[in-house]
Amino acid sequence: MTPDDLKIFKKWFSGYCKSFYTANIEDQKNISLKEEHTFNVCKNMIEIAKGLALSEDQTILAETAALFHDVGRFPQYAKYRTFRDSISVNHGILGAQTLIEEKILEKLPEDEKELIIRSVKFHNAFSIPKKEKEDIVFFIKLVRDADKLDIWRVFLEYYEGPEDSKASAVGLGLPDIPEYTPDVLSCIYKKKIVALSKIKTLNDFKLLQLSWIFDLNFIPSFQLLNERNYIDRIISNLPQTDEIQHIFLFLKEYVDKKLQGS
Ligand SMILES: [Fe+2]
Repeated sequence: MTPDDLKIFKKWFSGYCKSFYTANIEDQKNISLKEEHTFNVCKNMIEIAKGLALSEDQTILAETAALFHDVGRFPQYAKYRTFRDSISVNHGILGAQTLIEEKILEKLPEDEKELIIRSVKFHNAFSIPKKEKEDIVFFIKLVRDADKLDIWRVFLEYYEGPEDSKASAVGLGLPDIPEYTPDVLSCIYKKKIVALSKIKTLNDFKLLQLSWIFDLNFIPSFQLLNERNYIDRIISNLPQTDEIQHIFLFLKEYVDKKLQGS
């Protein structure tokens, strides 16, 4: 694919987003949130690609996967008015279906089309399917990293921002009480990603987001994580207990080791 193809895709995406715009302020906030998220994931992708010294061809493909990774969010929200996959639909799968149904990638060679569709389909899977081809796995990993780096931004804006600017779908409607679940902490100590099914409070959800660092794949992603102080900032939005302080040090050590290449 060429830089011109990417330009056409960006134009299509912008028109697609606009087709979901609504006069309902609440819904429009949620739609805009995902559109803005997409632009930031594209930016993150370019940064990661630079850090990994990817070729121009690979960078364009990676940016296209980033551009389309959440395309399923729009029909998902239009139909269910939520971003919770568990009570609606898997938005990765819906995104892949959308790309096929809308025939957006028709002009691309078969291998590039497959690469983009599968990166979209599995960007949100709990783990990457074992039987995927190596080059596809590489792109799925790129999208997952670029995506997480912006989801952290979205959540921090939500936790740190004024009440009236908050997009309602971000906090998943979880109770904002001081408690967190011990099982969630033990998951982190095992360096495991916390499953959404385990969480009971907004604090658990913050811990779940911290556990995503165990799914980051590339050194440039860890560098961006550090530059943006995401760990420190999420921790400062949790209760300041010894347990949480201990988790903080544990995560910091993990990231430092990754940055040293081990
Ligand atoms: Fe997503």
